[in-house]
Amino acid sequence: MSEARDRIRKIAAEHRARGDETAWFEAVYSEAGGDRARIAWADGEPNPHVLALLDEMKPGADGERDVLEVLEVLEVGCGLGDTSEALAARGLQVTAFDLSPTAIRWCRRRFPASSVNFVAADLFALPSTWENRFPFIVECYTLQVLPSALRARAMRALTRTLAPGGHLLLVCRARDEAEPEGEIPWPLTETELRSFAGGDLELTKMERFLDDEGPPASRFRAVYRRSPGEGGAS
Ligand SMILES: C[S@@+](CC[C@H](N)C(=O)[O-])C[C@H]1O[C@@H](n2cnc3c(N)ncnc32)[C@H](O)[C@@H]1O
Repeated sequence: MSEARDRIRKIAAEHRARGDETAWFEAVYSEAGGDRARIAWADGEPNPHVLALLDEMKPGADGERDVLEVLEVLEVGCGLGDTSEALAARGLQVTAFDLSPTAIRWCRRRFPASSVNFVAADLFALPSTWENRFPFIVECYTLQVLPSALRARAMRALTRTLAPGGHLLLVCRARDEAEPEGEIPWPLTETELRSFAGGDLELTKMERFLDDEGPPASRFRAVYRRSPGEGGAS
C-alpha cells in the first residue's frame, strides 16, 4: 500500500507543479491499468465509518431522521464504488459521482448489475438538476485530497445539492490545529470542519477518533444538516 501511496503522491506532485490541482485523479486511475492494488485508497471494502454513522442515525438515535427512509443519496468522489454498493444494498437509491471517467467506467465493470447511478462529474461543476435534490450526501476522503483553499468551495457546491432538511455526512483525516498539514492526504482541523457550517448549514455532530488501521489514523466523522426552510444554499 505504501508503494501505491508513493505513486499517487508522485503523480499528484507532478500535476500540482504545473498548477493543476485536480487533473491528477484521472491520471492515477488511468495509469493503474485496471490494477486496484495501485489505487492506495481502494481497499475493496465499503467505508466502515460511513456505515457506522448510518447505523447510528436510525430512528430514536439523537432524534435524527431515519436515513434508511431516505430514498436518494448522493456520494461524492466515489472512487471504485465499494461504499456506493453498500449503500445501495441497504435499499438506498444511490447516485455516485467521481471526477475521473476511468474510475466511473471501472465501477460499472466491477458492479455490472448495480442499481447505483455511477456518473462522471466534477463537484465544482455539478448538473443544475441536482440542486436542492438529495436528502442525504456522503463524502468520505475527497476533501482531504483537495488543497485547503478549495475545500470551502467544495462544501458550498455540495450544500447546493442538499435538499432542505437533508443531511451531509463527512469522514476525513484529522489533525490538531498547530500540527503541520504534511503530505497528501491532508488531515483537516476542527476549526475547518466548524467553518463549513453557516447560513442554512448546521454542524450537528462531530467526533474525533482513532481508527483500527496499523498504525491507527486520527479521523473526524461529522454530520451537517441543512435547515428545512425554503430557499437554496449560497
Ligand atoms: C481519496 S479518493 C476517495 C475515494 C472513495 N471515496 C473512497 O473512500 O475510497 C478521492 C476521490 O475523489 C475524487 N475527486 C477528486 N476531486 C474531485 C472533484 N472535483 N469532483 C469529483 N470527484 C473528485 C477522486 O477522483 C477520487 O476518486
